[in-house]
Amino acid sequence: MSTTKHSLLIVLLFAGLSAWAQPKPVANADAAQMKSFIDKLMKQMTVEEKLGQLNLPGSGDIVTGQAGNTDIAAKIRAGKVGGLFNIKGVEKIREVQKLAVEQSRLKIPLLFGMDVIHGYQTVFPIPLGLSATWDMKAIERSAQIAAREASADGINWTFSPMVDIARDPRWGRMAEGAGEDPYLGGEIAKAMVRGYQGNDLKANNTIMSCVKHFALYGAAEAGRDYNTTDMSHQRMYNEYFLPYQAAVDAGAGSIMASFNEIDGVPATANKWLMTDVLRKQWGFAGFVVSDYTGVGEMTSHGIGDTATVAARALMAGLDMDMVSEALLTKIPQSLKEGKVTMAQIDAACRRILEAKYKLGLFEDPYRYCDVTRPAKDVYTAANRQEARSIAAQSFVLLKNEGNVLPLKRGGKIALIGPLADNRENMPGTWSVAADFSKAISVLEGLKEVAGSNTEILYAKGSNLDYDARFEERAGMFGKNLRRDNRPSATQIAEALQIASKADVIIAAVGESAEMSGESSSRTNIEIPQAQKDLLKALKATGKPVVLVLFAGRSLTITEEAAAYPAILNVWFPGSEAGYAIADVLFGDVNPSGKLTTTWPQNIGQVPLFYNHKNTGRPLPEGNWFEKFKTNYLDVTNDPLYPFGFGLSYTTFTYGKMKLSSQSLKGNQTLTATVNITNNGKVTGKEVAQLYIRDIVGSTTRPVAELKGFEKIELQPGESKTVSFSITPELLKFYNYDLKYDWEAGDFDIMIGSNSKDVQKLRVNWQK
Ligand code: BGC
Repeated sequence: MSTTKHSLLIVLLFAGLSAWAQPKPVANADAAQMKSFIDKLMKQMTVEEKLGQLNLPGSGDIVTGQAGNTDIAAKIRAGKVGGLFNIKGVEKIREVQKLAVEQSRLKIPLLFGMDVIHGYQTVFPIPLGLSATWDMKAIERSAQIAAREASADGINWTFSPMVDIARDPRWGRMAEGAGEDPYLGGEIAKAMVRGYQGNDLKANNTIMSCVKHFALYGAAEAGRDYNTTDMSHQRMYNEYFLPYQAAVDAGAGSIMASFNEIDGVPATANKWLMTDVLRKQWGFAGFVVSDYTGVGEMTSHGIGDTATVAARALMAGLDMDMVSEALLTKIPQSLKEGKVTMAQIDAACRRILEAKYKLGLFEDPYRYCDVTRPAKDVYTAANRQEARSIAAQSFVLLKNEGNVLPLKRGGKIALIGPLADNRENMPGTWSVAADFSKAISVLEGLKEVAGSNTEILYAKGSNLDYDARFEERAGMFGKNLRRDNRPSATQIAEALQIASKADVIIAAVGESAEMSGESSSRTNIEIPQAQKDLLKALKATGKPVVLVLFAGRSLTITEEAAAYPAILNVWFPGSEAGYAIADVLFGDVNPSGKLTTTWPQNIGQVPLFYNHKNTGRPLPEGNWFEKFKTNYLDVTNDPLYPFGFGLSYTTFTYGKMKLSSQSLKGNQTLTATVNITNNGKVTGKEVAQLYIRDIVGSTTRPVAELKGFEKIELQPGESKTVSFSITPELLKFYNYDLKYDWEAGDFDIMIGSNSKDVQKLRVNWQK
């Protein structure tokens, strides 16, 4: 992503001209009709026009009022553009579409893509936060609303969901995905694709999804963005591929190649990946787009000059070239030299045209360009209400000693911290269409939700970080942190003054929005020192300090977890942040989020994930150090907070887990049940989690794998039975020969409230 990328925006100035003159396919046409329509169209296309469909140039140089004169406009007229992305505003998009369908020879409409990652103008929590809801319906609704808003504003294609498994919190893009687990990641991938695409891609309120980044992007060495990935095919298939495949199964219309290499070949030119796995093994029928300058970047990867890498990408199965324009410019010569085939160009062109056809753009190129829609559909009260409610559900209560939370209304509350009075940072990374000025800060939310008999006092207390240069990097894309240049002692003294008047202190601390996301890797994943020092000073007042923690990844907060009575992790909650935070702090909403990544005790444990292998020398459970076991001299193997962890304002008791049988055969179904009771005083939601361990395999198997979950709501005193149906389908894995099957033997069935805290029963399952 370049710094100019979000600033783009466009165009216009084209009157009437020739009317839309394409043959009109009938609505809901089947595959045969689509084929015959595209066959006819492609017969009329020159090689250049076909390559034009594969071209997705950067639209940054289209400036309002100048569309007619820009290079891009000339290319659109010449049929050299298949789509554009990150242009905002339905009127602008309509004008650009008009260029294509009224001034180009074949009048082929353009795709308009955007990074609609977690909402459009109504912003939902960052994807990592969304995943912490463990609520597939809510996640699907968030994508549906995002699609409705984006389509109202001219967009027909989103670069989402990002489904890269992330086990290394140094990698800033952990924020953009669903965490470390392939099963949960797969469920979320499906929910998001369903949300964006609905049942009918042609409807004007659904958009095409683009699953990214294919593949393994989250396994970048040392968590450094764009870095090399290298892993066994065993690990790819069993631990990383599942969410991509789930999204493909759910019908995702497109997929984005990742920046990284795989087996020594960049994904963008990796034939095994894009053709053998994606198309042949998984049956993917959509198109593959590169990520940004992914094609051109392969020269830096060191696999050839631009002409070579463009030819390799095309021949490997890439269909669309984002930004590099290498397919457009270099393939004609490669075709002459016999380095690429016409068949491959045709195949790629057909896939792009099919996407346009499926979106209904040939029937009506302005389907997503109804200029009356934004006022009705974007940033509506109902959408914002949904975002507020989903955000509150994404928060993870990490600690609540002595029930400091929820706060009582009345009295005085001191709100302190660099993220307390900051609207811009609330939506989080990748909030391209957000209006930062409208986001609700913690201060605003608390004041409004607390009501008039509660006094909210405020001081910033510290900058985000002592280092001004770091703070600049952490405040890009308009996410200003408004640095206070006074000495830190002065800022702390001011905060203490305010705190002295209050009964309780809320500290809004942690990462800024741009400390996670693309190209935001960190080697230190603690709360920055300036804020730690502020927290220590606040603690010294003796008043209870509640941390409202902003994070785009797992953080190491071992020190804070020991020192402060309550920690509510809020990720980046979106446009309604302040309201959602206040709803939870005052107990109007009981927190129910659970972590979808492991939180390590320290950075040296990274990568740390719950579904690891046992090794030949496992450390006996409950032990710390034993010589010649797999462990560390200086820290236990335990995480600070395990995968699946999260507290509530109430307490849930799990009854004894029961199994329908302990000895099974063939395709029988095993039912595992547990009774859960809310024995606290308030209504709450609990996520019951099912894990399975395959005790003996032909290849080694993880110590636990999530295989099911259910989120239930219980009134005080109420009990419900949660029941999981387990079939051999859930026992399958890719063996050494990458055959997907299950193996007979013993299995541990585990149910619990997180990956550590489980009950366990063993079954034997024969073929
Ligand atoms: C990112 C993608 C994004 C694309 C288009 C790239 O830099 O890696 O996730 O979709 O830009 O904005």
